[in-house]
Amino acid sequence: MKTIFMGLQLKSPVIVAAGPWNRDGESIRKSLETGAGAVITETIVSEPILDVRPRIAYNGMGAQNIRLYSDVQIEGWEREMEIAKSKGGIVIASVSAHTPSELAYLAVKMEKYGADGIELGISTPMGESLEVVASDPEEVYQMTKSVVENVKIPVMVKLSQNSTNISRVAKEVKRAGGSGVSAINAIRCILGVDIKTATPLLPTYGGYSGPPIKPLGLASVASLAQAVELPICGIGGIESYENALEYILLGASAVQVGTALMLNGRPHITKIVEDLDRWGDENGVQDAREIKGNALEKLKSFEEIKVEPITCKTLPISCAAGCDNCIKVCIYGAVSRILDGEMMIDSESCTGCGLCTFVCPVDKLYLNW
Ligand SMILES: Cc1cc2nc3c(=O)[nH]c(=O)nc-3n(C[C@H](O)[C@H](O)[C@H](O)COP(=O)(O)O)c2cc1C
Repeated sequence: MKTIFMGLQLKSPVIVAAGPWNRDGESIRKSLETGAGAVITETIVSEPILDVRPRIAYNGMGAQNIRLYSDVQIEGWEREMEIAKSKGGIVIASVSAHTPSELAYLAVKMEKYGADGIELGISTPMGESLEVVASDPEEVYQMTKSVVENVKIPVMVKLSQNSTNISRVAKEVKRAGGSGVSAINAIRCILGVDIKTATPLLPTYGGYSGPPIKPLGLASVASLAQAVELPICGIGGIESYENALEYILLGASAVQVGTALMLNGRPHITKIVEDLDRWGDENGVQDAREIKGNALEKLKSFEEIKVEPITCKTLPISCAAGCDNCIKVCIYGAVSRILDGEMMIDSESCTGCGLCTFVCPVDKLYLNW
């Protein structure tokens, strides 16, 4: 399945996100060989600093990272880009800085070194200052404008879920001449605290990534698609081709994958790309833009939703699972076991909240429309 994102023709809508897996020419080349439509460099800054150790934690669901940017100097990227692009492929340079002119300087250099596009990584959840920039529409406007005015390649801005109004920030990206937005960056977090030693798992706030942030990413992408006419690249918790499709159906033209690669290796990207291709062939979809935003018309505002007289199924339901999940979660006390293996839902007590249908492991429960 192909796509066009910010004018770039991508052979797959799956892009490898910025991160240490794309820290130099060699690793970027390997990421391109997965079949991904494009690869984004680890974020490049003017003054690389030494990485803190340790810097990545994982709790079996999501990851916290306090990795701070590429340790390759900007001039070193000339050689790295040569290696990265030695076998072709689209490389987008992620750059970050604290002032518009410094940001433009890095973007111009990366354009000269062969980058096909720029992603402004000005929404990192680490440290304080860039987090503030990410939620200040005026600052984002100035940063974007400065880069757009100095390069010819497309420029997207990576947005943060931590900003109070992501759509407002995106409108400023558009006003400044940006070609697209990507959302969302990792989310400011503390993964946990060791209660024996009263110590946070990592010594400072970091970025939360992986499956737990997908619902937040989906909501941000849908909000952006409803509010701004700009190509969107969806990011956050994508592990499978189904997850990629969810983002596309809510308005993304392309998606990025980071943590799933970090935890499972590059072959996982190839699997998502191939699964998406297969799904496209089976469903007659050759280009992600053919189905882009198809779920949006069913996404209503709260005020638009009608109150329907829905309840869960009321007839006795034969159930062999025996987990009683439906009984435990029914806050209205409407579900009971009448016989071993038979459940009953009392339609008088059931208010149709729907929760039992999601916790049933054998899909026996459904809503009576
Ligand atoms: C270890 C690690 C390092 C990252 N480094 C960067 C980076 O240099 N620049 C950037 O914009 N995002 C960086 N990210 C964020 C990812 O690009 C991505 O936006 C985020 O992880 C959410 O997507 P995911 O759930 O697929 O990982 C990093 C994420 C991780 C886990």
